[in-house]
Amino acid sequence: MSSDGVKKVGNLSFPPRKVWVKTFGCQMNYHDTQRLFSHLQKLNFTQTSNKEEANLILFNTCAVRDLANLKFYSQLGEVKHLKKGVKDKNVVVGVGGCVSQIEGEELLKKYAHLNFAFGTDAIDQISDILYRIYSGEDKVFINSWDTQDNYSIETKITHGSPQAFVNIIKGCNNFCSYCIVPYTRGREKSRRLKEVVEDVKGLVKNKGIQEVTLLGQNVNSFGKEHDESFCDLLKQLDQIEGLELIRYTTSHPYDLSDDLIAHHGSASKLSNHLHLPVQSGSNTVLKRMNRKYTADHYLNLVAKLKNANPEIVLSTDIIVGFPDESEQEYQQTIELLDKVQFDFIYSYKFSPRANTQASKMEDGLSDELRSKRLRSLQLHQLKIQEKNRKQLVGQQKRVLVEKFNVKNGEKKWMGRTNCNRIVHFLPETQETDYQWHWVELKITQATALSCQGTIVLDHGTTVVS
Ligand code: SAH
Ligand code: SF4
Ligand code: F3S
Repeated sequence: MSSDGVKKVGNLSFPPRKVWVKTFGCQMNYHDTQRLFSHLQKLNFTQTSNKEEANLILFNTCAVRDLANLKFYSQLGEVKHLKKGVKDKNVVVGVGGCVSQIEGEELLKKYAHLNFAFGTDAIDQISDILYRIYSGEDKVFINSWDTQDNYSIETKITHGSPQAFVNIIKGCNNFCSYCIVPYTRGREKSRRLKEVVEDVKGLVKNKGIQEVTLLGQNVNSFGKEHDESFCDLLKQLDQIEGLELIRYTTSHPYDLSDDLIAHHGSASKLSNHLHLPVQSGSNTVLKRMNRKYTADHYLNLVAKLKNANPEIVLSTDIIVGFPDESEQEYQQTIELLDKVQFDFIYSYKFSPRANTQASKMEDGLSDELRSKRLRSLQLHQLKIQEKNRKQLVGQQKRVLVEKFNVKNGEKKWMGRTNCNRIVHFLPETQETDYQWHWVELKITQATALSCQGTIVLDHGTTVVS
């Protein structure tokens, strides 16, 4: 780096520049954005939250439902005015992620102000892409799949928090009939178990990480191609000194093994929360969805999990209005919600995705009916949540404090319990800084979506059990 802050990379000079990024979609995408930042830092970029002052505008896109798509298209259109034509390299516009993987080339043709598009497997090529752009190319497109046999990476951390996301498997082989992910993320590829363990050890030792969330579209399939297993990975991570909490997302009910269920009962660091998407409570819909399990199989898993770990808290994903879903099929989903008593759910209206099986199915449902079913399902679930969360009042919970918000002049801190429930609390004094402290909170109030607590004990930045 020269004294004027200009960095030399290859034959090019990289002066200090600002990047603005908008991320849509799942945690995998948010994690990919972190990875992009780590590469961009090396090219002298710093982040800005003001796109008007950005030299690089990046969209990391999601294709899973139409809504995310539409938001992205409208925001991509809106940034056109920030740029004086495609040749203006003071402001460069790029798009990555799942939409870009499948339609990046068309996007580049359609939007004159768009400079580059790259697919989900090209995250680590962002520096090469920018090098080409700043060398004079106006349009660059990369969406090829990674052809290496091994999926080997090192987790990059660009933030100062003790929480880290760690990719362990990418892609998905399940081809649920409604889902576009196998087309945007490709086939499953796992990292080697040993590599992940060393990676996490390094994060704990060198970066002060205390909580990891293992990521993949279907983490239960981790290691299958190498005769390794997800449960063995969790067992080894459980041994890492200094690591406090292990979370993972997302798992598929079809291959949730008995070993893994037992581990939920015996592990010392594994979160008591499990996100286990069910999608529907109707066997006929589950069959049309190609989910490969029945409602009874799912309920049996829940019973086994609760038996192994009575404290376990479950959440799920639901799709309402799958093609030709009958009133009876819909009611079976409501019945499943009653039976499982999920702590929270993500629920969506079915959204047809190009080339998926479900988009070609007969479908007599109106959008109005889908919206009506979604609303009444959500109201039903909120009542379940409210009832269950009220039982938390009076209990003491350990929380890792993340941040504070100021509302009506009042400062409130928030953190997450081991079970992933958000709790807000007032500080003892306005000046006390609790960020990344482990605190014990007594729950004083609970609603369907959040809890309030008062502070009982502040452990500081490391837990003293
Ligand atoms: N791999 C994860 C989920 C990935 S997508 C899993 O299998 O659980 C996240 C959620 O989006 C899905 O669980 C599903 O509920 C929802 N989803 C996916 N495709 C959808 C579609 N076409 N319409 C509506 N919701 C969809
Ligand atoms: Fe999509 Fe199904 Fe794979 Fe999840 S398991 S990413 S819903 S195909
Ligand atoms: Fe969306 Fe891609 Fe994730 S489609 S949900 S960003 S894998």
